[in-house]
Amino acid sequence: MEGSQWVSDKRDGDGRMPRVLITGCMGQIGVELVPYLRQRYGNDNVVASDIQTGQPAEWAQAPGPFERLDVTRPQDYEALVSKYRVDYLVHNAAILSGTGEKNFELAMRVNIRGLETALELARAHRCARWCHAPSSIAAFGPESGPKELMPDVVAQRPTTIYGISKLYAEALGSYYRSKWGVDFRCMRFPGIVSWKQCPSGGTTDFSTEMFYYALQGSALKTFRAADTRLPMMYMDDALKATADILEAPREQLRQCVYNVNAFALTPRMVEEAVRAQCPNWTCSYVPDFRQGIAESWPQYMDDHNAREQWGWSPRFTAPDVFADMFKNLRVKLNLNVAH
Ligand SMILES: NC(=O)c1ccc[n+]([C@@H]2O[C@H](COP(=O)([O-])OP(=O)(O)OC[C@H]3O[C@@H](n4cnc5c(N)ncnc54)[C@H](O)[C@@H]3O)[C@@H](O)[C@H]2O)c1
Repeated sequence: MEGSQWVSDKRDGDGRMPRVLITGCMGQIGVELVPYLRQRYGNDNVVASDIQTGQPAEWAQAPGPFERLDVTRPQDYEALVSKYRVDYLVHNAAILSGTGEKNFELAMRVNIRGLETALELARAHRCARWCHAPSSIAAFGPESGPKELMPDVVAQRPTTIYGISKLYAEALGSYYRSKWGVDFRCMRFPGIVSWKQCPSGGTTDFSTEMFYYALQGSALKTFRAADTRLPMMYMDDALKATADILEAPREQLRQCVYNVNAFALTPRMVEEAVRAQCPNWTCSYVPDFRQGIAESWPQYMDDHNAREQWGWSPRFTAPDVFADMFKNLRVKLNLNVAH
């Protein structure tokens, strides 16, 4: 198993698989990350949690522990870290950009207070000194530049509460690392394209939505303008990046916050790819407040530090993703022929 080198390196030679607690598991990423990490570390070693209950069908092949956890309740969070003697905290629970702008107080509670609790637990519990919290392109703002190739280190100044919470997480995690040795690791994900769940609440969700709507024969009014480019990544690469950054030897990491980039898409590019398969599908562009958010974000990120320091390299190009989305969604939606 690829992870075994990491295990013997980091567990003082006892050879035990790491125990992982993932929060926010019922979301777009968590639903797929749980079985992915269970396959790597063993079903019982990956504890899934979320404020919601009910286990997604995707976990049937890799059943394991599930706990209801609201990350804004520090005592409950601590009880789980203690109960499972957690090695890695993968803190995914968050309120995304669109939803955060509609519910500021909820975003503050979940994204800020929840993250503070995760870092405090990583500091206080010797067993949980690893904390991974994904950041986002949203941690950049309209004044950050150059947008065509955003570096890792730059003036960020995000303008959404979601982006502000991500920048705060990056800075606070870096502080916990230098002050208390918490092994905080963080990637700035672009928008994630995936087929197992149709996401909502984010600014990059348009891409997945277009496939779902077209294949189900429904017209779509998308909330973005046609030609705004944003960096994107396929879920398979996002899962691999998560395992790779978790398992990277600490001495190889010269920073704790990394851009990770794959390809860039405009809504029109996705529409054209979808219409090539579903020629009768109609899509119109009715931008809402999320268009302003999209315009404040980078179009592409410079991820050479992730590539050099821990071997990041995406496997899926945009055409690969389009082909894979159609193949998998046709099966998921029980469709035998193109619309
Ligand atoms: N999906 C993307 O395109 C993307 C891009 C960049 C970064 N990220 C980051 O990756 C992480 C996971 O993203 P996602 O797309 O799966 O998000 P999502 O919105 O699909 O899922 C978030 C999950 O958090 C849970 N949650 C909300 N409040 C909670 C609380 N108080 N306690 C516990 N759980 C709670 C929700 O029930 C949900 O299952 C987030 O931190 C997000 O900021 C995602």
